[in-house]
Amino acid sequence: MQDILDQLERKREAARQGGGAKRIEAQHRKGKLTARERLELLLDEGTFEEWDMFVEHRSHDFGMQDTKIPGDGVVTGYGMINGRLVFVFSQDFTVFGGALSEAHAEKICKVMDQAMKVGAPVIGLNDSGGARIQEGVASLGGYADVFQRNVMASGVVPQISMIMGPCAGGAVYSPAMTDFIFMVKDSSYMFVTGPEVVKTVTHEEVTAEELGGATTHTTRSGVADLAFENDVEALIMLRRLYNYLPLNNREKPPIRPSNDPADRLDFSLDTLVPDNPNKPYDMKELITKTVDDGDFFELQPENAKNIVIGFARMEGQTVGIVANNPMVLAGCLDIRSSIKAARFVRFCDAFNIPVVTFVDVPGFLPGTSQEYGGIIKHGAKLLYAYAECTVPKITVITRKAYGGAYDVMSSKHLRGDVNFAWPNAEIAVMGAKGAVEIIFREDKGDPAKLAAREAEYKARFANPFVAGARGFIDDVILPHETRKRICRSLVMLRDKKLENPWRKHGNIPL
Ligand code: COA
Repeated sequence: MQDILDQLERKREAARQGGGAKRIEAQHRKGKLTARERLELLLDEGTFEEWDMFVEHRSHDFGMQDTKIPGDGVVTGYGMINGRLVFVFSQDFTVFGGALSEAHAEKICKVMDQAMKVGAPVIGLNDSGGARIQEGVASLGGYADVFQRNVMASGVVPQISMIMGPCAGGAVYSPAMTDFIFMVKDSSYMFVTGPEVVKTVTHEEVTAEELGGATTHTTRSGVADLAFENDVEALIMLRRLYNYLPLNNREKPPIRPSNDPADRLDFSLDTLVPDNPNKPYDMKELITKTVDDGDFFELQPENAKNIVIGFARMEGQTVGIVANNPMVLAGCLDIRSSIKAARFVRFCDAFNIPVVTFVDVPGFLPGTSQEYGGIIKHGAKLLYAYAECTVPKITVITRKAYGGAYDVMSSKHLRGDVNFAWPNAEIAVMGAKGAVEIIFREDKGDPAKLAAREAEYKARFANPFVAGARGFIDDVILPHETRKRICRSLVMLRDKKLENPWRKHGNIPL
């Protein structure tokens, strides 16, 4: 018996050593933690249950039969984050560069399948040289098996990807289909083809960091949600994100009790919006002053800054926040902001998270680059997302809600449950100046007359009461009572039931 126990321990130790001390040292020298160290930080202490520690690859080519390392480059299993179940896989760069073999893919698929059966999220810590080159098509098949599961799990259990090293070629498409992507600055990158291929094909000279580093993907491409300084910070923030999410699409998100009173008034909000309608103000101030304890977990803060998205809590309940940001492009909707917000609204809808929308939008961004880029199709994504969304939807118009953008931003017409406006809100087809220049074109040469017309238009339409008279908004509220009114609405909506008609799936404009 002792022999067997010794043998077991030797095997376990071999798996724990991964690619060996030298490669672990190299990993640390790059400022990266090992696959197991990462899991230790991510999961509650002592909760990790490892699976498939003894799995080995089955390759016989290129001398691979002599180099088998138990675990085969990925550590898999399940554990807890703040006492809540999660399935995990963590690629081990010290073993064949974390490259994905057939057996490595099978390990990932096994935890994904189990996560689906029990209804728990999957977190993948990616650090891999891509497809195991020695295995060829077997490893490509492995990727596709993972992709298929990513798609089947989409909208059923939350999926989160952390990119903590290389992630190139086909490897990028599994994270791409997950709900959130976090990256680590200076040590992670994602691209479909690396700098050398880029140079050969397009003659562009670009570094890996420029092409697909954390900064690139959180500022330019919008592929990743957040970038962090190092592994430790990234994993701590991942635990924070996890706390907002339900385990699956049949559960409500967890409630975290808060001492922040639901009826807390904030009189500083009464002067948040400047008198001059063209002057910007900080929408994030409204968000932090409204939600529990000023705690707002913003996603994609550096991408499409004209719209703000993220999670917060109201009376302990997770809510998704979407807000136009008048500080950037005057809060106009454009291609990138529409895509950013649409995907977020769809996530919230899939996972029973109410959506609170703060509106100050002067319209869609004009211009050839927007039109040629397909703003019609991309703007429609956000419209579609709000329209199909059946979770509680609460909207507060703080200032402008003009034109088609008014309709898009969780309006009553798109089944908004509770639609408020602040007293100075302007709900109209467009601003008074633009409107007058079009409908009173004949007065173009007469500034005095135009000014009078503008004042008349403003008095008639630049207020919330025209929409209020039609029931398009439910009430005009005072800014300082915004939190109280939203909290009450959320309580009222707690058991909301709304179903869309049966269909195989809709056809969102892609
Ligand atoms: N398949 C098999 N082994 C791989 C691999 C892969 N795709 N990628 C890396 N490795 C191995 C390396 O052979 C090396 O093994 P060793 O420690 O026994 O020498 C180890 O992983 C570490 O790789 P190394 O190249 O030394 O690390 P690096 O940090 O300098 O570079 C990469 C990392 C990912 C940039 C580089 O390894 C690479 O370009 N890999 C191939 C990427 C690729 O084209 N993948 C297939 C397409 S999906």
